[in-house]
Amino acid sequence: MSTLETLPSEEIFTLFQRLVYDKLGIHLAKQKRMMLGHRLLKRVKHIQVDNFSAYFRFITNPDNSHELEVALELMTTNETFFFREEKHFDYMSNIILPRINANQDYKVWSAACSTGEEPYSIAMLLNEHCSTPWSVVASDVNKSVLAHARKGIYINDRTKLLPKEYRQTYCVKGTDEFEGYMRVKPELRKQLHFFSFNLLDNMSALGKFDLIFIRNVMIYFDDKTRQNIINGLQQCLNEEGYLFIGHSETLHGLEHSFELIKPAIYQKTHVKENQ
Ligand SMILES: C[S@@+](CC[C@H](N)C(=O)[O-])C[C@H]1O[C@@H](n2cnc3c(N)ncnc32)[C@H](O)[C@@H]1O
Repeated sequence: MSTLETLPSEEIFTLFQRLVYDKLGIHLAKQKRMMLGHRLLKRVKHIQVDNFSAYFRFITNPDNSHELEVALELMTTNETFFFREEKHFDYMSNIILPRINANQDYKVWSAACSTGEEPYSIAMLLNEHCSTPWSVVASDVNKSVLAHARKGIYINDRTKLLPKEYRQTYCVKGTDEFEGYMRVKPELRKQLHFFSFNLLDNMSALGKFDLIFIRNVMIYFDDKTRQNIINGLQQCLNEEGYLFIGHSETLHGLEHSFELIKPAIYQKTHVKENQ
């Protein structure tokens, strides 16, 4: 680039906006133009195209699907931490797990798991409190965060809410170049299955779960997308199963048959047949 353009024009921003919406369901408000410019500028330089317009043409060329994936990953926000929104974990250990059916395996899905702190927190808790065999699957659309999640290595500063006894039981301290980091032990890591999944896609092949965490992701979607996702999640939940959403999120305004049990906790209740 000769003169460095650091911000896409409004017109080019609209093209990115539509692309991100179509591919991820994420609605980028107008005010995100600077954020988009900031996040994509290094790719514009790396690919050595002249400007954001040329970069847009580059990533929408089917020959460059890898770069499209890179650009879309940069559009996701991956903030997460261990035992985030701890009320959900309290409810799991105090209310849900003591009542589960002892004859069935307990299945949990962490949808939009980011770098893995959420599903590892769930797995630690299940290992402590679940009396039946259990499984945790975890997905995200962003393959880079999934790679991080599979490794299970975290900087100590970002593990403050991880209880000390869990840290001792389930994690090892990093040494040498990993000083200041900890790693989830392989025994726990191998009990989780991480996979790439776009929440806009059909969920029917994923099977049924007893508990689904879908937290701090629907906040980026509009009502139409959220409704489609909720329809899919309804099919994926077993009867009496629970749905946890982020505490700053709501299903208000959407059609669903869940019962609101507590803030950000929903349960799939029996559909009563007309007599
Ligand atoms: C803020 S993180 C939430 C992580 C975790 N659930 C939590 O509450 O701490 C949001 C995650 O949603 C993922 N995401 C965004 N759009 C998605 C989509 N269409 N399908 C699947 N995951 C998506 C992002 O990649 C990101 O990792």
